[in-house]
Amino acid sequence: MLTVTNLEITYNDIILALKGISLRVPKGRIVALLGANGAGKSTTIRTISGIRKTLDLKIEDGQVEFDGQVINDLEPHEIVAIGLMQVPEGRRIFAELTVEENLIIGSYSLSDRRKFVQNLERAFTYFPILKARRDQMAGYLSGGEQQMLAIARALMADPKLVMLDEPSLGLAPLVVQEIFEIISRINQDEGVGILLVEQNATAALSIAHHGYIIETGRIMLEGTSEALKENRDIREFYLGLTEVGAKKSFRDVKHYKRRKRWLS
Ligand SMILES: Nc1ncnc2c1ncn2[C@@H]1O[C@H](COP(=O)(O)OP(=O)(O)OP(=O)(O)O)[C@@H](O)[C@H]1O
Ligand SMILES: [Mg+2]
Repeated sequence: MLTVTNLEITYNDIILALKGISLRVPKGRIVALLGANGAGKSTTIRTISGIRKTLDLKIEDGQVEFDGQVINDLEPHEIVAIGLMQVPEGRRIFAELTVEENLIIGSYSLSDRRKFVQNLERAFTYFPILKARRDQMAGYLSGGEQQMLAIARALMADPKLVMLDEPSLGLAPLVVQEIFEIISRINQDEGVGILLVEQNATAALSIAHHGYIIETGRIMLEGTSEALKENRDIREFYLGLTEVGAKKSFRDVKHYKRRKRWLS
């Protein structure tokens, strides 16, 4: 349902941040986009969300298609209206508003008041802690609760697909696990597609169906989560795992470099 084809993106007409990336998020699936700092993950999400003017971001080539419609030139609010929501890096909740007010803002594109009440109840079912804190100022929530609020707020608009930009950032492993389990449940129960941008490959691949590895603006590898978790290079370079008892040898590193060259 979301198809990105050969996307080339520049900032300020010079910095080439994406060098022709292609990826797909089929209806109702969780797809992980994994990569290190500066790889181009947020740029991908911003481009899909239509956030161009304020960042001087330009689509030089390629296209973004959602539900059969090319959305390269749509404005951010039009993209929200067709069911594509993003949860930006660093959460960006409204710190001085209450939890409930944040959720009300998330529902602004809903026309039906009854839908609002339903969606608020749904958000509280997935995130009971938000119900307990509904009248508190959002800025006083813990980091994990703020991330939950940011996800819940995105859900208020009944999206078809949610893009999450590094939801695990700065959170303790147990909190990450809790949040990722809820994301997985939302995906299964509501059929909402998820594009999950992460540096935490282990957590992301634990719930994703498919994954892409991005490095300096290019997709280096893609595959099912199972295949990526088994892949020797991924295990070593993204999951921090090496074969038990085996020393990291030069040969392995060379193997990786060869593969990288071949893939690029
Ligand atoms: N607003 C901007 N203006 C100019 N260059 C930018 C801008 N935002 C990002 N870039 C550049 O584009 C490239 C990709 O950055 P991006 O933020 O997409 O990476 P990322 O994968 O999200 O990294 P991180 O994990 O650190 O968030 C980097 O080289 C970065 O310096
Ligand atoms: Mg980023």
